[in-house]
Amino acid sequence: MTALAPGHRVVVRELAEDPATAIEHALAIEPMAPPDPATLAAGDVIVEVRSASVGWVDLIMASGQYQHLVQPPYTPGLEYAGVVRWVGPAAGDHVAVGDAVLVDGLLAGPRSLGAYQRWGGWASYAVAPGPAVHRIPGGLSFDQAANLLGSYETAYHALVARGRVQAGETVLVLGASGATGLAAVDVARLLGATVIATGRSRAKLDVVAARGADHVIATGEEPLRERVKALTGGRGVDVVHDGVGGELSLEALRCVRFGARYLIVGWAATPLVARGRGQRGAPNANQLPTNLIMMKGLDVLGCPAAISLVHDPGLRPPRFARVWAWAEAGQLRPHVSHAFNLADVASAMRARWRGEVIGGCALHP
Ligand SMILES: NC(=O)c1ccc[n+]([C@@H]2O[C@H](COP(=O)([O-])OP(=O)(O)OC[C@H]3O[C@@H](n4cnc5c(N)ncnc54)[C@H](OP(=O)(O)O)[C@@H]3O)[C@@H](O)[C@H]2O)c1
Repeated sequence: MTALAPGHRVVVRELAEDPATAIEHALAIEPMAPPDPATLAAGDVIVEVRSASVGWVDLIMASGQYQHLVQPPYTPGLEYAGVVRWVGPAAGDHVAVGDAVLVDGLLAGPRSLGAYQRWGGWASYAVAPGPAVHRIPGGLSFDQAANLLGSYETAYHALVARGRVQAGETVLVLGASGATGLAAVDVARLLGATVIATGRSRAKLDVVAARGADHVIATGEEPLRERVKALTGGRGVDVVHDGVGGELSLEALRCVRFGARYLIVGWAATPLVARGRGQRGAPNANQLPTNLIMMKGLDVLGCPAAISLVHDPGLRPPRFARVWAWAEAGQLRPHVSHAFNLADVASAMRARWRGEVIGGCALHP
């Protein structure tokens, strides 16, 4: 192996009270020596990171408001892509030095369980076990590859595994410009559904429409219920994909047909439903009206893409395979609106926190 140059990494020194405080006060950029193969396991792979995703979960994890707690100091970066620099003798022959790869964020990095949790992607180098490392599919760029699995597997889990969306159905995607929202637009379209997408910004909705949403509704400017009813011939949608929560959920519950499926994916509008610094037990800001749910005969389905695997690992292989096949065939190409250098990590996190990002956001070590 040719000698690797020293690099840098982002470190979260302590869990903050909330993501905004974490961005301003909890981050540091530190020099990083390249990983030394002599200290690694035979099944390990060293990846020189070219792009790492800056996701919502990276934000709330830095203040301990994500359900999966990582003890600081740690390096964020759930998902990343880069070039293989070393392959351990037992890592498998599916990747080789020089390959462009992406790393499965459930098997390595801060969202994983165990030894690889300390190797986050917001760094010049990361170490992952061989099975977590895959050649990038479908000619995706490093930025696209780093923004693929988390969002699209979530969309698949919600729309397919939970929502059982069928061709010809109508899906209402709330917060459609976000990472999970835009992935849901793409996956719903691939399933043959008609997509109605919502957002608060005309400019961002223009991008969502250009990606293939059949209809867009600017909430705040247009009455959601009336517009959805008009677009569905008075019937209401079959499925709601809700990553926003709060007031918008209450409005969306009035836009559905009898017997619709309501997919709870997240609560971007009420991010502080868990207390900061890893404490638990904040009041729940998202309370749905049981009368509407009952009278409309709704199926309300929680859709945690990662936690569900703890209870049913069998959900992963078909989901991974489907997302991978779509990407390999060029049918999925994540939209990445923003990219920053590692030194600008605070700007990258601010852009995601303020909702400026459309789809994916990338950090270049
Ligand atoms: N179920 C899972 O397994 C899973 C996986 C990943 C993420 N999540 C969760 O899903 C949620 C969204 O994540 P993400 O990565 O898509 O975040 P994101 O990229 O920041 O997107 C969130 C979107 O929500 C909209 N939004 C934010 N605040 C709003 C408000 N007050 N009112 C109305 N709309 C608002 C924004 O769209 P506009 O500005 O256009 O309105 C934004 O684009 C988060 O709660 C996250 O934790 C769940």
